[in-house]
Amino acid sequence: MALTPKDVLAALAPFKTARGIKPLKAGYIQDIAVEPHADGLHINIHVDDAWQGVAVEDSDRETLSSFVKRRFSDVGEVRVIPRSKEQANAARKIAKPGPTSPRVPAGVKMIAVISGKGGVGKSTISINLAHAIADLGWRTAVLDCDIYGFSVPDLLELTEPVKMNGRQFVPPRVHNLEVMSMKFFVDHNAPVMWRGPMLGKAIRQMMEDTLWNAPEYMVLDLPPGTGDIAMDVHNYFPNAAAILVTTPDANAARVAERAGQMARSLDRRLLGVVENMSYMNCPECEHRWFPLGRGGAESVAESLDIPVLAKVPWVVIGEAGSAGLVPDGHTAQEIYRFLARTIEQMDLMPTEQLTAQG
Ligand SMILES: Nc1ncnc2c1ncn2[C@@H]1O[C@H](COP(=O)(O)OP(=O)(O)OP(=O)(O)O)[C@@H](O)[C@H]1O
Ligand SMILES: [Mg+2]
Repeated sequence: MALTPKDVLAALAPFKTARGIKPLKAGYIQDIAVEPHADGLHINIHVDDAWQGVAVEDSDRETLSSFVKRRFSDVGEVRVIPRSKEQANAARKIAKPGPTSPRVPAGVKMIAVISGKGGVGKSTISINLAHAIADLGWRTAVLDCDIYGFSVPDLLELTEPVKMNGRQFVPPRVHNLEVMSMKFFVDHNAPVMWRGPMLGKAIRQMMEDTLWNAPEYMVLDLPPGTGDIAMDVHNYFPNAAAILVTTPDANAARVAERAGQMARSLDRRLLGVVENMSYMNCPECEHRWFPLGRGGAESVAESLDIPVLAKVPWVVIGEAGSAGLVPDGHTAQEIYRFLARTIEQMDLMPTEQLTAQG
């Protein structure tokens, strides 16, 4: 299982300094962050800068750091960082995602599609999964959370513009899906330059100012990576369960593992891993190729202790009915149906009742 800040906190209980101070019991531990890095997980522990009225000593920081390292052998680095209570409060105010989290319609089961590496097929999986869920009879929406690299409307060959109803957006419908994307609000392929607060505002507006038709499932196509932007978008939807997309190669799998660990450190439920571009079927014989190698999904599944939910084959250009949806009768269609049924049975928590706007 991936390490969470709670695990680290629990492990700190018995720690004692040479002077007999127990920083956890004394309330000196401010917060703990677990971050995936190339050399393994890094743990940052923020502590009060004074313990029993005396500036925290380097030797105490070192013994605390080695104590945690001994306890979690696969951790790359443990840093113990002293900070005043004022600094801690200021940092909490900035970091707190709560007030910026958009309100989500009631009764929606949210599925975030995430990966570490770009281009592994998150958007393709998002729309095909959403389409298969809609085919099972559920009202389904897709929210393109990739503000900078939106692609959902193009993959669905959606040309209809957003209509307005008063001050609200009416989401276009295509293939039985309601869709909302930044693409509807920017000029032809003009780069979107929004950062930080504006990014949150854009996502919040797309979620809150849209007249959704009471969706029962909403698939969130997330931006790639484990950097600040991906982290921010994760924070907006803490209750969405996630599926992790990888390709079969070890490189993509390693990055997917890091993204999975990041999601875990945010306490997100990981439903499982979907391997895309797993194999290619010969159109004329029974032969199956593995152009990107094999084993990516299994390696991610094993390291995060999650199931492999599906392996999606290559869909050769020209076979596809539209840019992104697999054509009727293609073997990949059956795989997406199976994935949708698996997720349907996974007992996802619907969002809570929407509270009146304050
Ligand atoms: N199973 C597949 N067979 C063939 N081509 C695929 C398959 N899955 C995705 N692709 C193609 O690979 C490219 C990347 O896919 P997609 O845009 O879905 O990835 P992504 O992870 O969302 O990328 P980004 O990180 O840029 O958002 C697209 O051109 C898509 O059509
Ligand atoms: Mg994408």
